[in-house]
Amino acid sequence: MPILGINYEKCIICRICIKTCTRSLFDENDKGEIIFADPLNICNLCGHCIARCPEDAILYENIGQANFFESVNNPEIIVPYDHIYKFLTAHRSIRRYKKEKVPNDILAKVFDAMQCAPTARNMRTESYAILSVDEQIMALSDAVQEEISKTPGLKEIYADRLTEAKKVFKSPIFFDAPHVIIVASRFDNEIEVSNIGIIVTYGRLAAQALGLGTCWNGLTQWAMGVNSEIKKMTGVRGKKFGVFIIGYPDMTFYRTAPRSKKPIKGL
Ligand SMILES: Cc1cc2nc3c(=O)[nH]c(=O)nc-3n(C[C@H](O)[C@H](O)[C@H](O)COP(=O)(O)O)c2cc1C
Repeated sequence: MPILGINYEKCIICRICIKTCTRSLFDENDKGEIIFADPLNICNLCGHCIARCPEDAILYENIGQANFFESVNNPEIIVPYDHIYKFLTAHRSIRRYKKEKVPNDILAKVFDAMQCAPTARNMRTESYAILSVDEQIMALSDAVQEEISKTPGLKEIYADRLTEAKKVFKSPIFFDAPHVIIVASRFDNEIEVSNIGIIVTYGRLAAQALGLGTCWNGLTQWAMGVNSEIKKMTGVRGKKFGVFIIGYPDMTFYRTAPRSKKPIKGL
């Protein structure tokens, strides 16, 4: 069990863990000690007990490391609203890339950020993969293009466009991006779609903060879902997928793209 119990040398019996645990797994025994018990194995490893213990007295293993940094309790100091708003309005889908590959240590930062994403019930059912071999990316692009070109509803929108794009790009589906990232879940629930969507968004925003560009690739997600041969080409197993391309952007923006405001009921 990853939560091992309490370090009694540190515990000051403030009872914050008792108030924090949504599954009531902390209690006080007859001796007035705090205890952790999970006989039904229902702890979902949300880690809030660890994050909220003022004395760092919760013992745990095999669930990563909790970090302390200034402003951990005031993230608005790290990124004030004005900054994040500008950052978000400057976020664009990038469809022109430099040829150079992104170094592994930079890509690792994107994957690290994705793994900060919340998932329903902290299930974390996702798995990750990256394709970086141009020939593999090209073959996948061709297969997705072919699938689109024979699918009513999509072929009318995309087939001619993609045929034209193939004259410019070797992998028109991926705009010749140097890498394709795939997030997969082995479960077939709708909630997995939400989980994956949030994970992909964390990755894309982290990539932007690293000077990288990305573009979501719904077409490949769809193709992986309807054609098992295409899924096989990616080497990824699963039932639900998130796909995005990533690389160094080769486009310049002079302003943000306009977005009309939606009416908000109740505000
Ligand atoms: C779920 C999702 C799937 C998308 N799939 C594709 C895709 O397959 N190909 C593509 O070129 N762009 C794709 N996009 C990018 C959208 O076209 C783009 O986000 C939108 O036009 C707004 O532009 P912006 O991201 O630059 O603000 C996708 C975006 C989302 C959110």
